[in-house]
Amino acid sequence: MKRKNNGNGVLQFNENVPHFSDFYQLISKLTAVRYGINKKILMISSATEGEGKTTVASYTAITAALSSQDYYILIDGDLRKSMLHKQFQVKREGGLVDILADEMELADAIKQTPYANLHLVTAGTYVKNPFKLLSMLKMKETLIRMRKHYKMIFIDGPPIIPISDTLRLAQLVDGVLLVIKAGRTPRTVLKRAVDLLNETKCPLLGVVLNDTHEVLPYYYHHKYYNYQYEESNKTK
Ligand SMILES: Nc1ncnc2c1ncn2[C@@H]1O[C@H](COP(=O)(O)OP(=O)(O)OP(=O)(O)O)[C@@H](O)[C@H]1O
Ligand SMILES: [Mg+2]
Repeated sequence: MKRKNNGNGVLQFNENVPHFSDFYQLISKLTAVRYGINKKILMISSATEGEGKTTVASYTAITAALSSQDYYILIDGDLRKSMLHKQFQVKREGGLVDILADEMELADAIKQTPYANLHLVTAGTYVKNPFKLLSMLKMKETLIRMRKHYKMIFIDGPPIIPISDTLRLAQLVDGVLLVIKAGRTPRTVLKRAVDLLNETKCPLLGVVLNDTHEVLPYYYHHKYYNYQYEESNKTK
């Protein structure tokens, strides 16, 4: 089955869709004791753009919310190509940029999704060069506040190459999940992205291989990067 790209797929995602079990497995691994302790804030990124970050971030967050009574939050951290407001069909304004610019209280920027225990922070008001202008300290404070209220915080991040914001954000999260569009990203580019990520000391918790041309759309190979996980943990 190849998922139909009808633009509002996330709102139709539920326990009955064929790849729900893949995401359930993914979230189970991420919340397993070995990974789960202090691994609450997860950024979904990729080496380059268009590999499926927003899709994977949305489905992972929805699956987590559908699978437990705990509260989860999904943040649009890709301020240049923000998409979550479109996926969830809410307005972009009143979101992360507004919180970081001290224009809005965190509580007022949190939006409800159709999934009762999944909250959303959209990108917010459009600004040029958002992370250059906005405070990473405020981002850190915001995440610390959220940490108290949510079981997990998912950030739909920008790609690692060529956007340096991603590496700044990586320093504020507990781990990164890397989405790779199979057969597209050259190995050297992928290696460069992983090397850059390792320099931040942020653990790479897993890899989602997203291949839109295969019968099953997602495969999860968390073991592939077990080594990096162990190494990054030692340095934290
Ligand atoms: N497994 C899949 N099957 C079919 N279409 C997919 C799949 N994964 C992603 N897509 C589609 O590919 C496009 C890019 O996906 P998505 O927006 O999730 O990537 P992204 O990495 O967030 O991109 P960007 O870097 O532009 O933010 C979207 O139109 C999405 O619906
Ligand atoms: Mg995206």
